[in-house]
Amino acid sequence: MGSEQQRLAELRSLIAHHNNRYHVRDEPEISDAEFDRLFRELQELEQQHPEWVTPDSPTQRVGAQPREGFPTVEHTIPMLSLDNASNLEELRAFDARLRRFLKREEIIHYTAEPKYDGVAVELRYDEGRFTLGSTRGDGRTGEDVTHNLKTIRSLPLRLQGRPAPKLLEVRGEVFMPLEHFDRLNRGRLAEGLEPFANPRNATAGTLRQLDPRVSASRPLDLFVYGLGRGKESLELGYQSELMTRLAELGFKVNPRCVSGVDIEGVAAFHAELERDRDGLPYEADGTVVKVEEFALRERLGELERSPRWAIAYKFPARQETTQVKKIRCYVGRTGVLTPVAVLEPVRIGGVTVVHASLHNQDEVDRLDVRVRDTVLVERAGDVIPKLVKVVGEKRPSRTRRYRLPSSCPICGSPTVRLEDEVAVRCPNLACPAQVKERIHHFGSRRALDIDGLGEKLIDQLVERGLVRRPSDLFALDQETLAGLEHMAAKSADNLLVAIERSRDAALDRFLFALGIRHVGERLAGVLAQHLGSLEALLKTNHEQLEAIPEVGPIIAESVRAFLDDPANREEITRLRSVLRLAGVPAAARAKSAALKGKSFVLTGTLSEPRATVQERIEAAGGKVTSSVSSRTNYVVTGESPGTKLRKAESLGLTTIDEAELRQLLESER
Ligand code: IVH
Repeated sequence: MGSEQQRLAELRSLIAHHNNRYHVRDEPEISDAEFDRLFRELQELEQQHPEWVTPDSPTQRVGAQPREGFPTVEHTIPMLSLDNASNLEELRAFDARLRRFLKREEIIHYTAEPKYDGVAVELRYDEGRFTLGSTRGDGRTGEDVTHNLKTIRSLPLRLQGRPAPKLLEVRGEVFMPLEHFDRLNRGRLAEGLEPFANPRNATAGTLRQLDPRVSASRPLDLFVYGLGRGKESLELGYQSELMTRLAELGFKVNPRCVSGVDIEGVAAFHAELERDRDGLPYEADGTVVKVEEFALRERLGELERSPRWAIAYKFPARQETTQVKKIRCYVGRTGVLTPVAVLEPVRIGGVTVVHASLHNQDEVDRLDVRVRDTVLVERAGDVIPKLVKVVGEKRPSRTRRYRLPSSCPICGSPTVRLEDEVAVRCPNLACPAQVKERIHHFGSRRALDIDGLGEKLIDQLVERGLVRRPSDLFALDQETLAGLEHMAAKSADNLLVAIERSRDAALDRFLFALGIRHVGERLAGVLAQHLGSLEALLKTNHEQLEAIPEVGPIIAESVRAFLDDPANREEITRLRSVLRLAGVPAAARAKSAALKGKSFVLTGTLSEPRATVQERIEAAGGKVTSSVSSRTNYVVTGESPGTKLRKAESLGLTTIDEAELRQLLESER
């Protein structure tokens, strides 16, 4: 062999080795730059000698030519499915069943692995080279997706170690790591495409791409856990041995598996996995429980569709379909109308779900959700249930698009949609829905903290005309309160004590309690500290407000407009006469400069009004600008980010999502 050919072989094996260290074992030995150098050297050699290129060369992960279709592949040994257990009782029944079948007194040892929500595949290796990869399909016949599987970096194109078995079929699950899944869906939304409903669909869709360049741009990953033909040649006795051997051959096996446990150990593994479910980097929908010893598996054998020796112990589903009964709309403190889908009650992950927020008109339009539609609803962690999509095929006839009402459902005032805003609002400050929310906010813990002023009570107070504005709270008496539903003398007394106590209000809490748009807790503190008194604030004009370092034009405008409104002015006068306002609040935090000089651009739909987010950034010393430039420090992306995101990416800027922004702001405190 010539020295160039020797180098070629050496490069391929070096690259395979470092690829394994990086993508499979997560313990790189060399820098990315060094890896790139090796890779380029190989590319150059192959360019000079095209006749030396083989399909298993690391340069051939992304083949150049799109495919025409997917030939079918027969699974010589069928790829079975699994029977399910959905609770502990059924899990124990499985164990009892096996022991009865085996007439066995002593315990059975099991392996427990996460059940990946992906696509099962079979990978064929001839003389150690990856030659054919197929999906499970119906278990007997799948599709040849070799070209797309080769783009998975953790999939070895050649088996490690010698001698290579003549034929080996390795089985496992291809999945899309959640981080990539989220990114993929954000990108699709930005392009006006339908997002994938879940990571499994995204994986299946990616594996069925005809053009491997598309698959390569949507990184998939692979965990292996089983064998097809060629198993005997490895002479293995136990699942744990198999896993070790698969890792030695260069595959990625999940370290989060246990072996040699009894059925109670399996139950403990499952409970722990479920607890950590939301933090896993991949989607798992349960635990796969397998008899550990292959000799026992032989004796147990197989049923029609599934082996007797394994079972899938499922987590409660997080997605369910149900029907939309109505779409209701709620009016918030600032008058924003929020559409909410009222659902046919459905159990999801142990909780009955009846509502899913639809956020705003844009979201309703994007989903095109209509009354009587069948919809897919998802509950993840403690998050409010989300409407994932409408099941189009199940739409009954004669449905209509939903539009937020043109008049407020509570007070009937014509609603308005300001330019540049997604929100539709009721402009009537006296709208009972707004009044209730305002009273609620006024008495909330971080405002004047009036204990016992709950929602039901506020409803009654407002509906009976006893309270129209916060200052009315201070005129309530024992008799009136005790006469309300669910109120007794004792609770009325307690509430009065709480109201009395709230009269000694700190200025910052008072300013926050007023509910001025864009004046959150933190900004209220800034204003209180800079101005020192309510009197000073009342006299401060727009320019002076803007001169306060953390106040931008939007906030200054909002504060001034609030104070100039005659009704607000009157209410402030009334409140001043009933409260004992303490001057500079002890709690007002000194301004931090951690985000000072940092510039931000916001893009996409954020979970809060843009102005609120802007206020927060400004309050922390940052600046928000409308267009992306190389001087932008952070681009904050919401849902459906627009062209700004693309521009940011092309400039190589740092993009962060809302959660990351929150972390930045918090770390700054
Ligand atoms: S073992 C007969 N292990 O679950 C043995 N399967 O419902 C079955 N799956 O088609 C395969 N994670 O797609 C096994 N750790 C795991 C798994 C797993 C997910 C899938 C696989 C299979 C389906 C059976």
